[in-house]
Amino acid sequence: MTATMAGPLVGRGLDRIDGRAKVTGAAHYTAEIPLPGVAHAVLVGARIGCGTVRSVDIRAALNAGAIAVFTHENLPRVADIPPQFPSAYGGPAPGQTFFPMQDNEIHYYGQPIAVVLADTFETAQHAAELVVADYDSRDTLVRLDDGRAQQYQPDKIFCGLVPAVQARGDFEAAARSAAHTFDATYHFAANHHNPIECSATAAVWDGDTVTVYDATQGISATQATVAAYLGLSPSHVRVVSHYVGGGFGAKAMMWPHVTLAPMIARELGRPVKLVLDREQMFYGTGLREEQEQRITLTCDEQGTFTGLRHHKLSVTSPFDDWAELSLSVAGQAYGIPNYDGQYRLVRGNIMTPTFMRGPGEASGMVAMECAIDELAEELGVDPVELRLRNHAAIDPESGHPWSSDGYADCVRLAAERFGWSAEQRRAGARTDGNWRIGWGMGTAGYPVYAPGQPQRAHARLLADGSLVVQAGTQDFGTGVGTTMAQVAGDVLGLEFDSVRVDIGDTDYPNIAAAVGSMGAGAISAAVHTACTDLLAQLIELAVTDTASPLHGRIGAELEARDGRLRVRANPAVGETYSALLARNHLIDVEAIGAWNPPDPNAPFGKISFGAQFAEVAVDPELGLVRVRRMVGAFAPGRVLNAKLARSQVLGGMNWGLSQALMEATLPDARDGSWANPSLLEYLLPVNADAPEVDISFVEVEDRVVNPLGVKGLGELGMIGAAAAIINAVQHATGARIREIPVRIEHLL
Ligand code: MOS
Repeated sequence: MTATMAGPLVGRGLDRIDGRAKVTGAAHYTAEIPLPGVAHAVLVGARIGCGTVRSVDIRAALNAGAIAVFTHENLPRVADIPPQFPSAYGGPAPGQTFFPMQDNEIHYYGQPIAVVLADTFETAQHAAELVVADYDSRDTLVRLDDGRAQQYQPDKIFCGLVPAVQARGDFEAAARSAAHTFDATYHFAANHHNPIECSATAAVWDGDTVTVYDATQGISATQATVAAYLGLSPSHVRVVSHYVGGGFGAKAMMWPHVTLAPMIARELGRPVKLVLDREQMFYGTGLREEQEQRITLTCDEQGTFTGLRHHKLSVTSPFDDWAELSLSVAGQAYGIPNYDGQYRLVRGNIMTPTFMRGPGEASGMVAMECAIDELAEELGVDPVELRLRNHAAIDPESGHPWSSDGYADCVRLAAERFGWSAEQRRAGARTDGNWRIGWGMGTAGYPVYAPGQPQRAHARLLADGSLVVQAGTQDFGTGVGTTMAQVAGDVLGLEFDSVRVDIGDTDYPNIAAAVGSMGAGAISAAVHTACTDLLAQLIELAVTDTASPLHGRIGAELEARDGRLRVRANPAVGETYSALLARNHLIDVEAIGAWNPPDPNAPFGKISFGAQFAEVAVDPELGLVRVRRMVGAFAPGRVLNAKLARSQVLGGMNWGLSQALMEATLPDARDGSWANPSLLEYLLPVNADAPEVDISFVEVEDRVVNPLGVKGLGELGMIGAAAAIINAVQHATGARIREIPVRIEHLL
C-alpha cells in the first residue's frame, strides 16, 4: 500500500456537476430533446424466430394515421455492412453484421420487419400494432440444450480478435499427476441489460449533414457506424449525447435502430425520433448469451493449483462468432502453470450477444470461484486461505509482473471487516430461527484494457482565469464529466467551480467508447495531457516575459496553485493567470492533449483486483435466499472521486446479487421469443432485496497503465460478488449449485 495519492480535487467525493439537472428533470435525455417537426418512428418486430416474410400488409396502419411505413420492400439499402468490431477501438462498431429489412429473411424473433412513422408517438405506436405480416416459418433453435444444436469451434471469437483456444504448459499431464481433481459444469441463463433509459435515436438533417442524438456509450463509434452504413464521410455525421440513463453494455455497440433513424429521416425529409420500448430492448440491443462453463481444477497435496481446464460453450447468432471473454481473469488470477482454455459456440436464432455488465469475467469468475470453494471443501482448507496461497505473484499467462496488484491486501481487509473466521466457517452454518446462515467469498478481477488509438481532450484557459475542458466522450451514468473537472483543476491549480466541462459531442476531440472499464483511465489521461500541455505554455509565457515576477525562472521551480503560477520554494512570488494573459493581450491559451495508450504488449500483466464476501440466510423449507451482508475491498488504482467510485461499486455488488439469484431471460423454444421480456418478469433487485454493503478501497500505485494510474472499476464491483453469494448458499445448505441464477427450485 502506498500513501494517499489524492490531490486537492482528485480523490475527493465531490457531487456530480450535473446531479442537480438530473434530479430536477432539467437534463434532457435523447428521447426528450425537443425537435420541431419531428416524426415518431416505431419498430415492428418479427413474430417468428426463423424463416421469411412473405408479405407485410400496411394498409390498416396507413388508415390509422401513419404517414409512412418502411419494410424490406421500400427501405433503402445500406451502403456497407462494416465488420463487427469493439466500440472502444475506433471505427464502426455494429452490434452485429446483419442489418434488417435488406431482404425478407428472418433470423431471430423480434427482428425489425417494419418501421412505422406518424406525427405523434401514440399514433405511430397504434399503427405499428396494425401492421400484419405473413411468414414462411422454419425450425427455430434458441437453446443450448436443443438436441439439434451443432457445436463448432471458430479460430477466433469476439469480433475476430481473440483465439478460441488458449493453452500454456500441459494440462493433461498435470491432471494425470494431480493429488486432487475437481470437475464441474456451471450453466448460466441468458441475461439482458435493462438500463432504465431505453435506447433512443433522433436524427435531424441539414443539407447533406446529419445530427444524430443517441443514447450511446460511444459517440465516436456511433458516428463511424452511421457514416459507414449510410455511405457518408464521418465529417457529415455529428453525434450528440448529453445524458444517458445507463447502458451496462447495451449501448456499447451500435444496433440497427441507430442507423434506421437517420436513414428514414433522409427519406422523409424531416427529423425522426425512434425509441425502443422495454420489450424491444430484449430484442434490439444484444444480450449476455446462455452459456455453460466446465471447470477442471487440479492441485497437489498441499492444495497448490497445478492445472486448469476451462471450457465454455455458448449460443451466438447466425452471423457472428461472439462469446464474451469469460476465460481471462479466471485463468490469470491464480498461479496455475498448466492451462487449457477453449471457447465453443452453437448458432442459434438470436441476435448477436454483446458486452454486458462485467462482460466475460462476471460469468467466468462465477464458475472459477465456485469451483475453488468446492475444491476447498473437499480438501478441508479454508477457502480464503486457499485463494491467498494460490494468488498469482506474476501474470501466469505472459510471465510478466503485474503492473500493480493489491489482491492480498483486499482479501485481508475485506475478511477483517466481514469478521471472517476460518474456524467458525468450518463449523458449518449457524441457524437463526428458520434461517440457515452461510458465508462465502469470491475473488474480483477485471483486465485493465486501453483503447487502441490516441485519446484527446481540449483545454482552454480564458483570460478571467476560468477553464473549459472538452472531450468527445459521454456520460452513461458514471459521472465522467465531474472527474474531468477534478483532474483539470488539479493540474492547473484551479477551483472545481472554475472548470467548465463539455462532453457528448463528436465535434470535440476523440475519446474511445466507455466500455470494459477503460473510460476513466482514457479520459483522465487525455485531460491530464491537455492540461499539462497548457500549463507548459503558461509557464513558458511567464518565464520569458520580462514584466512577469517569474521572469527568468525555470519551469521546474514553479507550481500552479489557486489560479496562479508561483515559485514552489517561495509561494509569495508569482502571478495569476489573469494578470499574465492580460499583460500579454491574450484572450485565451489552449491545448489539445493526445495521450497514446501504452503498447498492449508491454511486459506487464494488468488486472484490477478485489475481494468480495457475503453472508446469506436460507430458509431450506421454502428455498428462500436473503443476502444479509456484502463486504468488498477493491484495488482499482487511483480513485478519481470517492463518492462516484463507491456508487459504481455499490451498483456492481448489487448486480452480483441479481446475477446470483434473479436475472434470467427464458427462451421459448417454439418461436424463439423471450418468455419474460419485461421488468415485471425479468427479476432485478429492489431496495427490499438490497443488503447492507460495506466497501473499502485499497490504494495501489500503478505507473504503467496511464498517467494517473487509474486501473478502472466500472466492472470490478460485480466480479466475484455472485460467487461469494453462491458459495455462501452452498455453505448454508450443503447444496451443490450448478445453475445460475440460483432459484427456489434448486434449493428444495
Ligand atoms: Mo461495459 S458491459 O463493457 O459497457
